[in-house]
Amino acid sequence: MLTKIKKYRDNTWDFRDANTKQYTHCFHSYPAMMIPQVAGRILDEFGKNAKVLFDPYCGTGTSLVEANIRGINGIGTDINPLARLIAKVKTTVIPIKELDVYLKDFNDFLFSIKLGVKKVSPQIPNFKNIDYWFKKDTQLMLAIIKEYIDNIDDKNIQDFFKVAFSETVREVSLTRNSEFKLYRMSEKQIEKFNPDVISVMIRKLTRNRNGMADYISIKKNVSRTFIYGFNTVYEIPENILPFESIDIVITSPPYGDSRTTVAYGQFSRLSNQWLEFEETNEVDKRSMGGFKVKVSKSFGFKPLDHALEEIAMRDKKRVFDVISFYIDYEKSINNVSKVVKKGGIVAYVVGNRKVKGVQIPNDEITREFFERNGFKHIKTIIREIPNKRMPKKNSPTNISGLSDTTMNHEYIVILQKV
Ligand SMILES: C[S@@+](CC[C@H](N)C(=O)[O-])C[C@H]1O[C@@H](n2cnc3c(N)ncnc32)[C@H](O)[C@@H]1O
Repeated sequence: MLTKIKKYRDNTWDFRDANTKQYTHCFHSYPAMMIPQVAGRILDEFGKNAKVLFDPYCGTGTSLVEANIRGINGIGTDINPLARLIAKVKTTVIPIKELDVYLKDFNDFLFSIKLGVKKVSPQIPNFKNIDYWFKKDTQLMLAIIKEYIDNIDDKNIQDFFKVAFSETVREVSLTRNSEFKLYRMSEKQIEKFNPDVISVMIRKLTRNRNGMADYISIKKNVSRTFIYGFNTVYEIPENILPFESIDIVITSPPYGDSRTTVAYGQFSRLSNQWLEFEETNEVDKRSMGGFKVKVSKSFGFKPLDHALEEIAMRDKKRVFDVISFYIDYEKSINNVSKVVKKGGIVAYVVGNRKVKGVQIPNDEITREFFERNGFKHIKTIIREIPNKRMPKKNSPTNISGLSDTTMNHEYIVILQKV
């Protein structure tokens, strides 16, 4: 009997030369972003009649933008306030005429300061280590821009400016910009580093303005997106996302706990501090696996249990980080499962990482956790992550294990609720 192969490598999903920064996708970098083309193709193949897409770890909203472009409404949630801000701005249409009025006003504001016509009293924020991460001149220029942003009367335009400001903060800080974790430049580099803060900000604003224009030209007007800050491990409130209300889920969850994989909180910390978000230091703690258990656990799934035993033999403490992550991951999948309609689709884009040299099959684990919730596996597509995004060595995403060749692949796990 011929059995259909359900897990296979397909290079048509690699999108090797695709432009991943079209439309509002160019607005802000973020660790381990999803490729828009992947979300788009899943929607085209599995979301023909979908009305609502849900992304339970939406990050900067890649799948939400792709849904809106196709006239599908989006609901996203993420524990990181910076990610939520970016996702909101990327999915909120601002008429270009309106935007241009504010961009011109911003230029005029800067010009009048330069001429000494306008006096400002910028407030430099008082967060820990500000002098460690920013030169004094840079702090002053950022504070001037921040003062302008704080006085913008239109909330959507203010948020648009905040997103450009956030990337500016990172670019003019003393962090090594090629890395997502917070590492300071060497003393030698710092000496030579004198960024032109205003030019950087204007460059980001102009790029994002053009991205918005392209987005407006393609977006179907009817679709809308709502972003929330729910932690999917603990809550997806029924009054907001009713039981069996979602047609399709497209998402890329974290690969593991944020201490040892991608530190989303760390990546966002300086922006969060300048933008005065409250949960600034909580993001990594609230992330899946952030709450540490110190007990062994069997998940009743051999590939995972076997990997845990191997890791425990190599490092007794490290295994608790991994267990903590999968406890949360399973709870989160249980919660996501509830909101999907019968016949609805979930597509999880995951990577298989190594811990202490032991391969953890995230794609199999994801499939198993959904099957326990009444889903049927449709297929798992293996795509190669083009090298330009994740070089074989010293990956810019800081995902430990990524320098390994196995991590140059991503698994698109697709299931259907029966
Ligand atoms: C791989 S990123 C998503 C990237 C996104 N697809 C994009 O293209 O920007 C995973 C996201 O999960 C979020 N996250 C981690 N734990 C979470 C939880 N328990 N509930 C909701 N979001 C969570 C992180 O803050 C991070 O933004």
